[in-house]
Amino acid sequence: MNMKKFTALTLVCAMTIPMGAALVSAEDSAVAKIKEAGKVVMTTNAEFEPFEFKDGDEIVGIDKEIAEKIAEKLGVELEIMDIAFDSLIPSLNAGKADFIAAGMTATDERRKNVDFSDDYFDASQTIIVGVDSGITSREDLNGKLVGVQQGTTGDIYCTNEDGSGDITVKEVKRYPKAMDAVSDLLTGRVDAVVIDDFPAKKLVEKNPDKIKTLDEAMTEETYAIAVPLGSDLKDVINEVIKELNDSGEMDEIVSKYIS
Ligand code: ARG
Repeated sequence: MNMKKFTALTLVCAMTIPMGAALVSAEDSAVAKIKEAGKVVMTTNAEFEPFEFKDGDEIVGIDKEIAEKIAEKLGVELEIMDIAFDSLIPSLNAGKADFIAAGMTATDERRKNVDFSDDYFDASQTIIVGVDSGITSREDLNGKLVGVQQGTTGDIYCTNEDGSGDITVKEVKRYPKAMDAVSDLLTGRVDAVVIDDFPAKKLVEKNPDKIKTLDEAMTEETYAIAVPLGSDLKDVINEVIKELNDSGEMDEIVSKYIS
């Protein structure tokens, strides 16, 4: 290759790369892809009343309503995928969904794999016990058999793998659905269930004469919506959360499900 040709080629490359780069970033825009597809895919685990649960075949709840606002903002349809809670992050990162809205606590560990929107809800882990159980505080869980929903912060807290927690239960029984943990509590197969506060209240409301929640909160957490690392959808979601908060609509949505 003579020098002139080489220089010409380099020049062409130099000109193409920036254009190429611009193309790549347009392609990488999750928002652009969603608009082109005409739909945004939310993934959740609809076993978590009041945030997401089934009413017949339909998935309803606080998160679903926020998700509808996100779809509206994008001008697209909302599609919902209902899967196991501990599959949510892997499935998001496999490109099967655009965001997770699942009463998901924004933890540092999860931040390694996803980006979180701004917080939209404060929560805590609550202990559910039988009305006549001797368990009255978190320390009473020491040496006990505790039911949790698999992969949740309640699971992580009770399992205490890194030893940083202050309780040592005898065994953690993990269930795909919190409801099944509660069924086992009702029949005495576990001594207590640890789950987020509002879902705990909803579960107890269904069996008020048999089970109750303890007043003591075990953790302080905040829920946020997860997107793949670097996704520009996060900005749109943050705008929606801000608008819902500023307009008072967020409170309206929440009060439809929590009295
Ligand atoms: N907040 C807890 C967590 O992030 C539990 C969430 C469970 N959500 C659900 N849709 N099942 O681990």
